Amino acid sequence: MRLVSRIVTGAVTSTVASAHTSTVTATAPAGGRPVPRPHDRPPSVTLRELGPGETDVLDAVFAGLSGHSRYLRFHGATPRLTGPVRRTLAAVDGRRHIAVAAFGPDGVPIGIARLIGSGGTQRRGAAAPEAVGNLRAVELAIEVVDAWQGQGIGRRLLVAVAARGRQERYARLVADVVAENTAMRVLLASVLPIVSVETDGHQVTLTADLRAGVLGLAAA
Ligand SMILES: CC(C)(COP(=O)(O)OP(=O)(O)OC[C@H]1O[C@@H](n2cnc3c(N)ncnc32)[C@H](O)[C@@H]1OP(=O)(O)O)[C@@H](O)C(=O)NCCC(=O)NCCS
Repeated sequence: MRLVSRIVTGAVTSTVASAHTSTVTATAPAGGRPVPRPHDRPPSVTLRELGPGETDVLDAVFAGLSGHSRYLRFHGATPRLTGPVRRTLAAVDGRRHIAVAAFGPDGVPIGIARLIGSGGTQRRGAAAPEAVGNLRAVELAIEVVDAWQGQGIGRRLLVAVAARGRQERYARLVADVVAENTAMRVLLASVLPIVSVETDGHQVTLTADLRAGVLGLAAA
């Protein structure tokens, strides 16, 4: 099971808080990147950074993922979160392991985006990336419950967690994505410039330039 899909991103910040009110705007294509569609952002969906030990949020989001979404997120059949994995995912520190969650109108968690850098949470069998070239790198993982997919939540979470990664001075964002995961590939490319794409079997590793900022979008 992959804890992160290959990535990285502290306290609730003004950057994240601004996500509650900012507006997504469509812009002209830049370098062939997909152009974001304007979404009618549900005003009552809020984002906040998670603190350590918020396993209730993890559990709620995991429960809202279909089997296929769990497969795409964890790169394998994942009927449940084991205790160690659950504890690891809850062990955010705001520096090397950063998680931002989205909450629906009723306050129920509907998505999480996380960044894990060197020395943070480690995937089973592989360390989180330390660097790409000589640039500090973080690994990204993101999930939105099925009932809320396609409504701009993933984009908001990615923009917010990328902003936190930049605050922590990471320069590269790395995402391991199952090759068939078009949504994730298109989403990442629409938010950040992709600097490399490596394919290994049915897994694609996308590396994005985190320092470039988010073109065409207001901060999360
Ligand atoms: C991938 C995922 C996080 C996207 O979240 P989302 O809230 O559904 O995505 P959004 O509504 O914010 O869409 C953002 C952009 O992604 C792209 N996108 C989303 N779904 C897409 C699809 N099915 N096909 C192609 N592009 C898609 C579009 O460019 C979209 O922008 P647009 O609406 O302006 O066209 C979500 O589908 C998910 O949780 N999937 C299961 C877990 C997973 O795959 N995680 C990624 C592994 S790291």
